[in-house]
Amino acid sequence: MKILLKNAQLVDPQIKLNQVADILIKDGIILKIDKSISENADQVFDLSEGSFGKDKVIAPGFADVHVHLREPGREDEETIESGTAAATAAGFTAVCCMPNTEPAIDSAEVVTFIKEKAKGLLVDVHAIGTVTKKREGKELAFLGEMAEAGVVGFSDDGVAVSTSHLLKYAFEYSSMFDLPVIEHCEDSSLTAEGVMNEGLNSTKFGLPPHPSLAEDLIALRDVAILEYTGGRLHIAHISTKGAVEILRHAKKKGLNVTGEAAPHHFTLTDDAVKTYDTNTKVNPPLRTQEDVDAIIEGLIDGTIDCIACDHAPHSIEEKEWEYIYSPFGMIGLETSLGLTLTKLYHTKVLSLEEIIMKMSVNPRKIFKLAEAKIEVGKKANLTILDLNQIWTVDKFSLKSKSINTPFHGWELKGKAVGVVNNSKICFEGKEFSI
Ligand code: DOR
Repeated sequence: MKILLKNAQLVDPQIKLNQVADILIKDGIILKIDKSISENADQVFDLSEGSFGKDKVIAPGFADVHVHLREPGREDEETIESGTAAATAAGFTAVCCMPNTEPAIDSAEVVTFIKEKAKGLLVDVHAIGTVTKKREGKELAFLGEMAEAGVVGFSDDGVAVSTSHLLKYAFEYSSMFDLPVIEHCEDSSLTAEGVMNEGLNSTKFGLPPHPSLAEDLIALRDVAILEYTGGRLHIAHISTKGAVEILRHAKKKGLNVTGEAAPHHFTLTDDAVKTYDTNTKVNPPLRTQEDVDAIIEGLIDGTIDCIACDHAPHSIEEKEWEYIYSPFGMIGLETSLGLTLTKLYHTKVLSLEEIIMKMSVNPRKIFKLAEAKIEVGKKANLTILDLNQIWTVDKFSLKSKSINTPFHGWELKGKAVGVVNNSKICFEGKEFSI
């Protein structure tokens, strides 16, 4: 089957491509790229007209490396099917799913279960395995077995690896497979019952504090151990100025370390907690303007490699508990691109090329996911964006099974309108094989 995508701005910073052209795709492979292709196709999408309007961009397929799909175990909150439907609608062609499931992703069996469930989907689902068995922080999980089954990294996400001893082993073993250890940097002896960033606001709102020091200390520990053992460290959801500086310094030293930031951490401050909306309760917590500015600086200067949303679905019942009891986490897939384009692109903080690097090229490189490139002969793995579409976040119309977002009602500028991958296209909500 042939499909023709016409009159889009093709942007691929990997090959310095930025031009208006047509793409002809045959059986899922890019057959031709030219200024004007007149060849017959089974389906033609003219991206300069119709309900798509103008300013459509085709980029290499976006990948989000920090997503909680909740399956197995909490299928009431999300499933591989609903989470990947959300990812498709949000413009992602790949996601990495975190292992804090029930049971945890700590064996080849669970990895295989996920792979089986994700077979045939437009979105590639890559599992991340735990560092320790059941994420209990007591003994190392079977990293080799999980690597063989296809995990793309190891993490006890939700908590940091419990001891320096275990992390040292984790780096030693994971380096045998050249896979990263993804760290949730938090010294839990400091955060204890904390639910929001420690500072003036936690005092004002009367909520137990969760100090930024907890993140900085573990980031420092992890970098020190990495320097000693070798291996690869990826720092998840960076939220503090201190962690940005630690990452910057470690990179300058030449260590094999990378990092990600979530849209909520460069969009919101802990002022948002004043409403006691439990959808603002997230771990690491929303921080101060100084931290937000440091994250943005880290994104600009390349210290922070990826934007990843930490999509964390929770049931309405649990999010209706009081702030101190409600679980940490907010959904993020379907607002990630809109927030990034609104807050970073339309404000001229980052160029479109830089955003594509952080949402497609870098995450794919760090986690060794399938390469996505807009080149003849390559598999069509594409994200189609409408940079200027203005839309309002409506939590009731999202594809995710959960609705725990603090962005309900926000007006955003920029949206994904389509994705192509695995010989499938999804365009304005309609998916079919090509
Ligand atoms: O807010 C969070 N929610 N942070 C985490 O580290 C885990 C996540 C979850 O799984 O709900």
